[in-house]
Amino acid sequence: MDERMDTVEVFNGVRLPGFMHTPESLRTACSFQFQDTDVLLVTFPKSGTTWVQQVLSLIFCEGHLWPILHLPNWSRAPWMEQVSFSHLLSQLEPTRPRLLTTHLHATALAPALMRSKARVVYVARNPKDVLVSFYHFHRVANFLPDPSSFEEFLDEFLKGTGFFGSWFDHVKGWLGLQRDLNMLLITYEELYQEPRSTIRKLSAFLQQPLGPAEEELVLEHCSFSFMSQSSVVNYSLVSKQIMDQSRGKFLRKGVVGDWREHFTPEQNEKFNAVYQTKMKDSGLHFPWTR
Ligand code: A3P
Repeated sequence: MDERMDTVEVFNGVRLPGFMHTPESLRTACSFQFQDTDVLLVTFPKSGTTWVQQVLSLIFCEGHLWPILHLPNWSRAPWMEQVSFSHLLSQLEPTRPRLLTTHLHATALAPALMRSKARVVYVARNPKDVLVSFYHFHRVANFLPDPSSFEEFLDEFLKGTGFFGSWFDHVKGWLGLQRDLNMLLITYEELYQEPRSTIRKLSAFLQQPLGPAEEELVLEHCSFSFMSQSSVVNYSLVSKQIMDQSRGKFLRKGVVGDWREHFTPEQNEKFNAVYQTKMKDSGLHFPWTR
């Protein structure tokens, strides 16, 4: 029997899982005092958040793998908007830059961020792959509603009425602030296709140079095969009541272009038409549009 715990918290018109978000946790995020040394990872869900949390913690671990092997990703780079944030923040290593994560839209966090020089890493992924990954994740995660048909899920995604709101607004909102914030944009696709140069780009932005041996450690420990087997990043530590991975794995496929296995030609046309309209004036050009 499917025991869903899909209560909803609505914040700025965006639906969030009530299980991990409360009005108080959201207020805490919005009024957060960033430090100039903070590193904030920003993603729309299913864009490679866990992957980049792993990469960032590897870049900062300076070859000492203990946290990578023993601490879950959510305590190494806690989500600012979640109820556990204040506790997890207090547990972070005080001598290192704080790694923080958020799925919130720019409107919620930008005012607090603009008061600091904190670094922001925005990760974007082909929204067609985000949609497919999110669809499967809705089946696994009991804090999200069981998805209806793929077609209905796709329509909701295009309208932006699904959980975490509109992908289009998220990307445009954050990337519209590139001049105002200390921000680096990377894509899931470039990390997948050119992991070494993308990791170098990240380490340069973070002013955390990597020696050759450290670079190899990062590459090895952020691979899909390593992460799939690691209980601290594959979410096997999370109870079955919250995430039932007998219905599908969190680290599901980890590839570029899986949408081709799911979209019909008509769904692809519908998606492209909405994408073109919504992204028309954004000035943003991603690898998947080339
Ligand atoms: P798929 O469902 O397409 O496999 P998030 O952490 O933002 O929820 O994103 C999850 C997606 O990132 C999943 O995509 C997951 O497999 C993928 N992912 C996680 N670690 C990865 C890695 N090391 N290499 C490639 N993809 C990875």
